[in-house]
Formats: sequence, structure tokens, C-alpha cells
Amino acid sequence: MNSKKEHMLEALELANRGALTTSPNPMVGCVITHDNKIIGRGWHEISGENHAEINAIEDVINNLGDKAKEVLSESELFVNLEPCTTYGKTPPCADSIKEYGIKKVYFCNEDKAQKSFTKMHPEIEVEKGILENEGRKLNRGFFSRIERGRPYISCKVASSLDGGIALLSGESKWITSSNSRKDVHKIRAYADAILTGTGTLSKDDPRLTSRDSGLNESLFKQPLRVIVDRNNVLTGKEEIFSSDAPTLLFLNEESQLKEKDGIEIAKLKASPNLFLEEVVNYLAEEKLINNLMVEAGSGIMNSLLQERLIDELVLYKAPKLLGENRLSFINLDVVTKKLGTIDLEIEDIEELGQDIKYSLVPKY
Ligand SMILES: NC(=O)c1ccc[n+]([C@@H]2O[C@H](COP(=O)([O-])OP(=O)(O)OC[C@H]3O[C@@H](n4cnc5c(N)ncnc54)[C@H](OP(=O)(O)O)[C@@H]3O)[C@@H](O)[C@H]2O)c1
Repeated sequence: MNSKKEHMLEALELANRGALTTSPNPMVGCVITHDNKIIGRGWHEISGENHAEINAIEDVINNLGDKAKEVLSESELFVNLEPCTTYGKTPPCADSIKEYGIKKVYFCNEDKAQKSFTKMHPEIEVEKGILENEGRKLNRGFFSRIERGRPYISCKVASSLDGGIALLSGESKWITSSNSRKDVHKIRAYADAILTGTGTLSKDDPRLTSRDSGLNESLFKQPLRVIVDRNNVLTGKEEIFSSDAPTLLFLNEESQLKEKDGIEIAKLKASPNLFLEEVVNYLAEEKLINNLMVEAGSGIMNSLLQERLIDELVLYKAPKLLGENRLSFINLDVVTKKLGTIDLEIEDIEELGQDIKYSLVPKY
């Protein structure tokens, strides 16, 4: 790996420190170099506070004191996302980069939410596209919301070897090992919202909060719980009405449920012919959701797959057979009639105790 890539890799690692806190903003990290040596580092922690570039410039000033201005004017800056050019909650980073006379800016990915840095500041040399794929992957949720108008959608499925997600009697809680369940709580912590179906709420009544992940719970916000109830199945007594986390309900016109502390009713109504695409677009536009996790049964999973809305399937396979009394995670007869065979690309495989976790990307 050459030094440009090494510096960008460090910027990406710094960016990743914001994984639990930056949303709806992207994760951004920055290193500043002089004569190819790193003289300052920064990362973006929370929306409304300094961006990574400003924190890195301040780090150089702390490290070098009086000499900082002169050194900065001969330095180069590596940042994973194109520097911002417009006023948001903070002034544009491009202005500070220009003010300190930084010679060259390297970035992985363009930011379509901004006016082009390159066009607005032709006087600053730019090289883009370094570790482009790694940068896209890190901020896949942010890019999905900005470029496609919907969140990146990751569906978690805990299944037996014969593809069962529950017994027909409804029992499903203990298919996978405690290691896998801990991992699910971790994924919840990194998600901005969790969508489930009324079938899962009626059978399991989950709390859908991140509790046993091993992460420090004071460091992150609980994800928004999202439910679409087309047929007034909810009673108002389910666990998702607890105050542990905020909840957003898509209800039909006749629903008697009312808003209260932590419970919001979406403006979009859940009519029987509502497409889930409208729901996820609403989540991006109204709630700035970058990463949506789905933990539902085959009802919601079938609908998502038919609408080609599943970006990633996170499948925990346990060494267990549920036999003929099992509920399958996808009703393949229904789904494949519309889509044909569905190929999945394996992105990652991990052993978790006795279980195997697959990260799979559907090739529609
Ligand atoms: N192992 C696991 O990972 C896992 C995870 C979650 C759940 N489960 C198990 O799955 C079982 C429940 O399965 P399920 O299929 O009944 O649950 P579900 O997917 O949570 O909910 C199904 C309900 O969602 C609604 N629905 C379907 N398509 C929709 C759409 N396009 N828009 C809005 N709503 C839609 C339908 O209700 P309406 O027709 O009334 O709208 C349907 O009855 C439970 O036994 C649970 O334990 C297992």
C-alpha cells in the first residue's frame, strides 16, 4: 500500500469512531500531512459539532503552536468525504481549508448533498477516488439516503439449518446462540431505526431496543421503532409502547391509537395498498434515517423482497432443525413467482459460537 492509501486508511479508521453518534451526518475522518508525515488528526463526532477537517486543523494548531500557520500552508489533507462547501449547522470546511492555504486535498467519495468542492475551489489541487469502495461501504446508509432517497436496508434473520425462523406455534426466541443474540443487539445499536411487522409484535412482543451488546449504552441513542399496522392489530399495550425508545407508527385512517410521549403517528397512512417503498422513503425524508434494520417475519420479508428493497440479508444459521412445523423466513412460492431465482452474494461469513453469520447481498 502506498502512503496516500495509508493516510486515507487512517482517515477512514478515524471516521469509524463516529459510527454510533454521527447519524444523520456521515462518518468522516481526516489526517493532515506535512512532508508525508501526519501532523494532525480529526473526526466528526456529532451533528452540529465540528467536522473532521476542522478538528484536524485544530489538532495541528495544538500540536505545533506558533508554527502551525506556516506548516499548514505547506501541507496536504486526507478526508474520506468531499469537504463541505455550504453552511449547515457549522460553516463550510472548504473556507477553512482555503484560509489556511492547504495545498492539496485528497478524498474517497463525492458528497452529492453539497455543491462540488472542486468546482467551487478550482485553486485548490484535488485528487479523488482513493479507497473509493471502502469509503462507500463505510457510509452506505448516508449515500443511500442522499442518492436514492431511502435508507440502506439490512434484514436480520435467525434461522435453523432447514430455514425455519419459528415454530408454527409462534415460538422463535431461542433458535440462535447467546453470541448471535448479542451480535443482534450490537447491530441494533448501529441502526437508526428498526422495522418490524404486526405478526412479530403479536407473537413475540419484542422491545426492539439494544440492551445486551457489550457497548456503552450511554454513548448512543436507541433506534427508532417503526411499525406499519394496516389492519388495526396494535392494542397500545405492546412492549413497543414502553418509553425505552421512540416509536413511529404508520396507522390506517380508522385507528383509535393516539400520539403520546415517545409515540409518533406518521402523516403517511397505512392503507392496504401502501407500498413499503413509500414507508422507507418517508423514513429517509422525514426522519433522516440512514440505516434501517428489519427484524420481521415472512410477511414483511416477502413484501420487501418483492419490492426489491432488501440491500443486505444478515443470516444467523444455527445447528438446529425445526422440522415440518416450521415457518420459513421467506415464502419462496410467492416471492419467486415475481422475481424468479434470487442469487445472493456472500460478503462476509463469521462464526459466532455454534452459529454461522452470513452477510448476503441479493442480486435481483
Ligand atoms: N427468527 C427470526 O429472525 C424472526 C424475526 C422476526 C420474527 N420472527 C417470527 O416470525 C413470526 C411472525 O411472522 P409474520 O410473517 O406473521 O410476521 P411479520 O412479518 O412481522 O408481520 C406480518 C404482517 O405484516 C403485515 N404486512 C405484510 N406485508 C405488509 C406490507 N407490505 N405493508 C404493511 N404491512 C405488511 C401483514 O399484516 P396485515 O395484513 O394485517 O397488514 C402481515 O400479517 C413469529 O413467529 C416470529 O417469532 C422470527
